[in-house]
Amino acid sequence: MKLFDVYTRLNLELESARGSYVYDTHNKPYLDLYGGHAVISIGHNHPHWVNRLLSQMGKISYYSNSVRLKIQDELAQKLGRVAGRDTFQLFLCNSGAEANENALKLASFHTGKSKVVSFSSSFHGRTSLALAAGDCEAYTAPVNKSDRIIRLPFNDTDALARCFSDSGKDIAAVIIEPIQGVGGIRVAEPEFLSTIRNLCDEYGSVFISDEVQCGFGRSGKFFALDHAGVDADIYSMAKGMGNGFPVGGLLISPQIKPVMNQLGTTFGGNPMACAASLAVLEVMEAENLMDNARQKGDYLMDALRQMPELENVRGKGLMIGFDLPSEVPGIKKDLREKYRVLTGEAGNNVIRILPPLNLEQKDAEKFLIGLRSALSENKFFKKTVKQKAHA
Ligand SMILES: Cc1ncc(COP(=O)(O)O)c(C=O)c1O
Repeated sequence: MKLFDVYTRLNLELESARGSYVYDTHNKPYLDLYGGHAVISIGHNHPHWVNRLLSQMGKISYYSNSVRLKIQDELAQKLGRVAGRDTFQLFLCNSGAEANENALKLASFHTGKSKVVSFSSSFHGRTSLALAAGDCEAYTAPVNKSDRIIRLPFNDTDALARCFSDSGKDIAAVIIEPIQGVGGIRVAEPEFLSTIRNLCDEYGSVFISDEVQCGFGRSGKFFALDHAGVDADIYSMAKGMGNGFPVGGLLISPQIKPVMNQLGTTFGGNPMACAASLAVLEVMEAENLMDNARQKGDYLMDALRQMPELENVRGKGLMIGFDLPSEVPGIKKDLREKYRVLTGEAGNNVIRILPPLNLEQKDAEKFLIGLRSALSENKFFKKTVKQKAHA
């Protein structure tokens, strides 16, 4: 049998990984500033994470939510404290899309309404309503199309206010990524986020912060929304939450009361996923990873802003994007093949940097050296420098 061929894959086969590095089948190291779409938060195979998983496997690996599992309560306690939301409630599931699907469903149950406001260039996952809420025509099958979604321009406060004054009574939820990931690292304005909060309060709608990519410490605060000093009613999480072990979840405000059997999942909250996520939180605390994300992020952004070839360097913490002039081919490929640095992209001319939160200074420098070399060797920039010299 063959694999169902739906992925564009790099010409790279990995065999092992440790910290900020992955190794190919010839044991060649690559500096991983992408973490398989922002998943690696505490570094590949962190020894504490490995030991926690092994030790959990020796006790109990799986049971469903038809019994009590103490480790789920341990995770809820720890997460509530580290996220600064002790009064919130935790619902566990398995992925980012599932988290958003449940968040939207819960908002609709809670409000009795059925419209969802979402924004241009957003991505919320590939399941039914999460996909409809995202701005991704290419992945949307006819069956996924929904007339429940009102899509508005990102960061357009006036359009948002107009939409609520026209349809506010029908709006169950507003879902937003405070920093768009797949959309190219676009940061929501604090004023836009506080307007969402105010309008949701005024019209009785639920504010969902999709923190699947930007949350769990990546931006230098636990939730990216925290930078705006605004609170959501539901936070969706996944990716960095398990450092590679599949786990997702919702933090749900105390105003939203649980109703038996409204939400559910067979695998969500299994003991292995809880152990992985506890290990992530323990390492984040012990190694002050949110501070490190802030410091290394500021260092990288300052250095990137000094490179004249790059445009519009943006982001927060270790979620960084920048534009290349659209004509430039091959920088990402050169970084990978010549300098053995893995980065992400968003469209043709955006590079995304999503390294582990314990990125070391020497590795941040190594990336900058590789990038400077790749830029200076690139034909497009050589030509531009020559043209400038002749002008
Ligand atoms: C912001 C955001 N939400 C949701 C998802 C979907 O997560 P998953 O692929 O785990 O379903 C992603 C994945 O890239 C994402 O970036």
